[in-house]
Amino acid sequence: MNPFEKGQEILKEIEAQVLNSAEEAEAFRIKFIGSKGLLKDLFASIKDIPLERKKDFGQLVNQIKQSAEEKVALAKTSGVKKKVKISNEDLTAPGVPYKVGTRHPINLVKNEMIEIFKRLGFVVEDGPEIEDDWHNFTALNLPENHPARDMQDTFYIDYKDNILLRTHTSSAQIRVMQRQKPPIRIITPGRVYRNETISARAHCTFHQVEGLYIDKDVSFADLKQTLYYFAKEMFGSDKIRMRPSYFPFTEPSAEIDVSCFICDAKGCAVCKHSGWVEIGGCGMVDPAVLTNVGIDPEEYSGFAFGMGIERVTMLKYGINDIRLFFENDERFLEQFS
Ligand code: PHE
Repeated sequence: MNPFEKGQEILKEIEAQVLNSAEEAEAFRIKFIGSKGLLKDLFASIKDIPLERKKDFGQLVNQIKQSAEEKVALAKTSGVKKKVKISNEDLTAPGVPYKVGTRHPINLVKNEMIEIFKRLGFVVEDGPEIEDDWHNFTALNLPENHPARDMQDTFYIDYKDNILLRTHTSSAQIRVMQRQKPPIRIITPGRVYRNETISARAHCTFHQVEGLYIDKDVSFADLKQTLYYFAKEMFGSDKIRMRPSYFPFTEPSAEIDVSCFICDAKGCAVCKHSGWVEIGGCGMVDPAVLTNVGIDPEEYSGFAFGMGIERVTMLKYGINDIRLFFENDERFLEQFS
């Protein structure tokens, strides 16, 4: 191997070297540029180089010296290099924001409804979703085999023992009336179940806010004003109407319709092209119901109403399919904050 080749080899070795500790850096220095190092030997061989190539050789030796010195200097100034793989990531790039969840629209509207009725003095109550027949039907003036039971297709858990999934939160109101003397002014928000065909307008599970007010001299006018107040606060307009209807637990009874805000009452699929959307029912509590829970109907009267939270939410936000609430599609949910 001639001195040129030898020099090239040393240079390569120096460049390939990784210095991992102070000891390694010092050993490196001694090996290559120390007073008895390889460079010294190489320099000594200059005498064997033909004259015309001495200059080139001198340059090579200098290059070797420089690169070895640089390596040692670098190891000293920056601390000894660790064998860490430096990633290509741009550490100055802006961070990726965390996705924060949003409240479900049903909860948003439920809370808003609670707030509105709270301002009128209503207190929140709840009851079990798994109910017995008596609280869900019988006490509400729907005796066994009464045809009105077909109005609400029921999911039975145990048909023999009459255990079912509540079809409305009126069952919770029965429980409150059983344990509390009037005046009673409550709302019962919660999830209910009905064995219905799922469509854009109906689902087998949905949410209600039902209200109940029992006191002396409660009249239909009180009911009407309560609903007007609610509509005004919720939709910014009290364009509602009450349509005579029938419920076994109220007499007289009415259906509550709200002007369709989705199509501006011009007619759409949600309002079945009528300009009105039914959001629930209401009426004066039937004396038979009061008797069933031990309240004297001669002394007390009251009104009740029940509304579907999904319907109210659809109207408020212009949503035209109830199924969206249960699909948990983030693109839908993140629009509500
Ligand atoms: N419980 C009825 C339903 O779910 C609604 C309602 C409540 C009607 C109170 C009248 C009075 O359909």
